[in-house]
Amino acid sequence: MVGMADQKAPRATTNRSTTPGSDTFKDYISSQWADRPDVLPEPREQAPFAADRRARLSVLHPGTRLVVPAGSAKVRSNDCDYPFRAHSAFSHLTGWGSDTVPGSVLVLEPTADGHDATLYLRASAGRDSDEFYANPEIGEFWIGPRPSLTQVAADLGLATRDLADFEAVVGTVDAETLVVREADPDLTRRLDAVVEAAAEQSPASAAAGEVTPDGDGAPGRATSADLARDLSELRLVKDAYEVAQMRQAVTVTGKGFTDVIADFDDIVAHPRGERLVEGTFNRRARADGNTVGYDTIAASGDHACVLHWTRNDGVVRDGDLILIDAGIELDSLYTADITRTLPVSGRFTDVQRLVYEAVLEAADAAFAIVRPGIAFREIHATAMKVIAERTAEWGFLPVSADESLKPDHQYHRRYMVHGTSHHLGIDVHDCAAARRDLYLDGVLEPGMVFTIEPGLYFQPDDLTVPEEFRGIGVRIEDDILVTADGAENLSVGIPRTVADVEAWISRD
Ligand code: GLY
Ligand code: MN
Repeated sequence: MVGMADQKAPRATTNRSTTPGSDTFKDYISSQWADRPDVLPEPREQAPFAADRRARLSVLHPGTRLVVPAGSAKVRSNDCDYPFRAHSAFSHLTGWGSDTVPGSVLVLEPTADGHDATLYLRASAGRDSDEFYANPEIGEFWIGPRPSLTQVAADLGLATRDLADFEAVVGTVDAETLVVREADPDLTRRLDAVVEAAAEQSPASAAAGEVTPDGDGAPGRATSADLARDLSELRLVKDAYEVAQMRQAVTVTGKGFTDVIADFDDIVAHPRGERLVEGTFNRRARADGNTVGYDTIAASGDHACVLHWTRNDGVVRDGDLILIDAGIELDSLYTADITRTLPVSGRFTDVQRLVYEAVLEAADAAFAIVRPGIAFREIHATAMKVIAERTAEWGFLPVSADESLKPDHQYHRRYMVHGTSHHLGIDVHDCAAARRDLYLDGVLEPGMVFTIEPGLYFQPDDLTVPEEFRGIGVRIEDDILVTADGAENLSVGIPRTVADVEAWISRD
C-alpha cells in the first residue's frame, strides 16, 4: 500500500526545470541552518468550543470510530490547485481554519466512556530530508513552513500525531468505521479498498451486511450518511465563539459593500463594471478575512433577475439597480451572506422604490416573527404573504393574494422562486444535511443563525408585468441571530431602508 505521507509524488517538472541532485549539493543545502526553538502558542480561543463539539458528537456515536478528514487541495489544471479550504466538519471539530495543514485527519477513537481525539497531520520536515527545497507541493521553500506537532497540539488543545502514523488507522478500518466521505475522496477510496479487501476474505460476513465500504450495511448500524447528518445538525445552534465570528464576518462584509460604493464612479466607467464590484469586494475579503464565503453575485440591470449571477461581466449603468450578494469568510471559515440592491445613481426611480419597499416589507415582516419556538417555515410563509399581497395589489396575479397563497396555486412565486431563509455559519448554506424535521420543519432555538432574503424578480421578457417593471430584480438579505426572547438582525447596520441606502451612496 502506498503510504499516506508519500501517496502523491511531486508533480514531474524535470522537462522544464531541475533540482540539483549531487551529493555535494544535498550536503550543502542541508547544512548550516540555525536551530529552531519549538515555541508553543497559547491555545486559540476556539479550542474549548471545538472540544465541546467533539464531546457532543461522541455521545451520538458511542463505540464507533469516526474519521473526519480535512481534505486536500483540488487540482485546477496541470500542477496548479484551487486554494485549499478545510472541510467544514473538520474545521468545526478542530477549530482549525484557514491555517489547516492540508491532508490532516481527525480520528475519534472509541473508549470505554467516549472517544479519544487524535489529529494526524504531516509533521514538519527536517532539513535532513529534501522535502523543504525539492517538493513544490509541500516543501517549506515553496509554500512556507508547517507547524510542529507540539505547536498544533498546544494551539488546538488536541493530541497530535504524524500523518505517517495514520497508516495504522487505515490498516484497521472496518465496516463500522464512519467517515466523512466527501472530505477527501482519495482517502475515502483507500479506506473503502481496505474494507472491501476484508469482505473478500470474509464473504459470509459481507453477505450478512456486516462489511460494506460506505458504512451502509447491517440494519440498525449507523452509516456515514448518519454521521454527515449529525455533523450538520450539530451546527444548527451556534456557540458563543461562533456567534462572535458571525458578527465579525458581517462587520467586514459591510465594509466591503461600502468599498464598492466608494468605487462606483470607476465601476460605471468600466465596460465590465460588475467585475470591478467583485474585485473591490474581494480586496476587502482578502484583507480582513480569509476570502469570500461564496462567489460574489454582482448583478446589474437585468442580471439582477438571474439569482446566482456570478459571471459578473456586465456593465453597471447609472439609473440601474445593482444587486450585490456577497459575504466575507473569516480565517475561522465562518461567513456572512448579505445582499443589498443599490440604485447606481444614488436615487431609486419610483418603480424601483416601489419594488424595493415591497421586498423590504417582506423582510421586516418575516424578521418580526422570529423568536424561539416558532417553526422555521413560518419565516418564509410570512415573507410570501407580503409578496403575494403586493404583486396582487399591482395586478400581476390572475387571482387574489389569498387564492395565490394556497399551496396548489402559488402564482406569486413566479417572481420569487427561491426560499426565504437558510442556516448560515461555517458554510454559507450551513447544516445542509440536517433532517427536514430539524431544518425546514424545525423549531427555532436561541443561537440559530440564518438569512432572511426575500426578493422580487421581474424577468426582462415577462409579459405578466408592465414594461417598466421588467428587468428589475431586488433582493434584501440579512443575517439573523435567534436570541433568548426574540431575534437580532446582525446586519441591520448595513443600510437597508430607501433613505439610508440613498444616503449611503450619495453620489450627487
Ligand atoms: N448568497 C447566495 C445564496 O444564498 O444562495
Ligand atoms: Mn443567502
